[in-house]
Amino acid sequence: MSWRPPGALDVRNTRMNETLKTQDLEPQAYRKLPTTPVPLDMARVEELIAQEWKRFTTGTLASNEEFQRSLATMPLGVPSSFQHWDPYPIAIASAEGAWMTDVDGRKLLDLSMGFGAMLAGHLNPVVVAEAKKALETGTLFVTPSPISRDAAERMCKRFGIDQIRFANSGTEATMYASRLAKAYTGRDGLVKLEGGYHGSYDPMTVSAKPKLEYAGDPEAPTPVIPAGSNAGEIYVVPFNNLPALEKLFKEHGSTIACIIMEPVMENLAIVLPDAGYLAAVRALCDEYGIILIFDEVKTGLTSGPHGAANRIGVKPDLITLAKSIGGGLPLAAFGGKKEIMDAVADGRFDHFGTFNANPLAMAGVRAMDEICTPEALGKAEALNYQALDRITEIIEEYNLPAHTVGFGVKGCITWSTTPVRNYRDYKATDFKVAELAWLWSLNRGIVTPPGLDEQWLISLAHGQAEIDKLVEDFRELAVALRS
Ligand SMILES: Cc1ncc(COP(=O)(O)O)c(C=O)c1O
Repeated sequence: MSWRPPGALDVRNTRMNETLKTQDLEPQAYRKLPTTPVPLDMARVEELIAQEWKRFTTGTLASNEEFQRSLATMPLGVPSSFQHWDPYPIAIASAEGAWMTDVDGRKLLDLSMGFGAMLAGHLNPVVVAEAKKALETGTLFVTPSPISRDAAERMCKRFGIDQIRFANSGTEATMYASRLAKAYTGRDGLVKLEGGYHGSYDPMTVSAKPKLEYAGDPEAPTPVIPAGSNAGEIYVVPFNNLPALEKLFKEHGSTIACIIMEPVMENLAIVLPDAGYLAAVRALCDEYGIILIFDEVKTGLTSGPHGAANRIGVKPDLITLAKSIGGGLPLAAFGGKKEIMDAVADGRFDHFGTFNANPLAMAGVRAMDEICTPEALGKAEALNYQALDRITEIIEEYNLPAHTVGFGVKGCITWSTTPVRNYRDYKATDFKVAELAWLWSLNRGIVTPPGLDEQWLISLAHGQAEIDKLVEDFRELAVALRS
């Protein structure tokens, strides 16, 4: 099921080092380290940040007003805490294609695209047409229906899995998959990667973005359990560290049900797996009878038409999906090997949900199945690689202490001169400059996700003009940083 976009290179990496060789980045991924980085003048960075926050607050008066009103009825004035930033977030009134309009009437290039959920583009005509059809034929039956059977068939074929069940959010999908693994194995232990985010189910909140002061030894991280979380038997390991995983499995393998991980970590900007890492994790799981769950909520269709697992060529036992698979409608799923999914059929594991596979969400599946052709995704990926190449050139031209990373239609600029291979590396990147870069773009009409741990998404609605805007905006920032 491997897939390569037309015209894209296998691997792009200009500098070698001991831990990272060109062939290490299989499959097709992008990482280019700077060849002649020069540190930034941090006083200049601070000066620019102060200037840009002033510009932000004077240009977004209606967003501030909206925020002040929202504070009365919603904690932090937002529906999800991810949407908040200080002093207040921008409020959006509408969106179409690759663009959004905020309540101040500013047109903004959307490079967040709903944390990647809007891969199809806002109001994609195929999604709208399918959704309209559902609105005319019924939005909820709570019975089996040809449309849910059809959606299941499409998804199983596309992602190369035996069976699937639908849910409504990524949080649900990872919860169900991990509980299913526990029911199937009869074990209680769960392993996750330090810094990995998989939604709000109790065990998944452990060490999601832990404060380093509590996180302990980088080789054997202390599980950091947030208040109110009932984590159960939980273990935390660093990404790209096989000896740590092997040691853990040796000591506790007999009680561990599953390990959940993103095959490419996309909640720490973009962290690529080392050569052979995922295949070795697979082999270790087989050795110890541990279920391997790939959380493809973020990677999914943004990695290519069959998801990251198929592109990388390592087959997990279960996958979880959400975000992009629904074309912007609330939809999630978990699925995998029949032998494991049989635990749902034979009563070892219960999976319920009033809104599971509701016709509106199923319309999203049909639409995305039609839209996400190899050609369409390949075109978006080629644009993404073009942006990455051009930004890399600017990094070189201005000797910036940054590098570019990309996978599928996602990309990011990481403010570090060395590769980020795990959470501790990520924490060592320069968050001050990252804040400036994000705010700089926002003030010039480009929305990238808040939080500095995300990446941009080149959707099927982005074109050359949008790529040019992204690149030229970065050039202006580079000029400002060096002036
Ligand atoms: C990798 C991953 N898994 C799970 C989730 C949870 O998904 P949701 O926000 O739909 O609950 C997220 C959300 O960002 C995610 O990035």
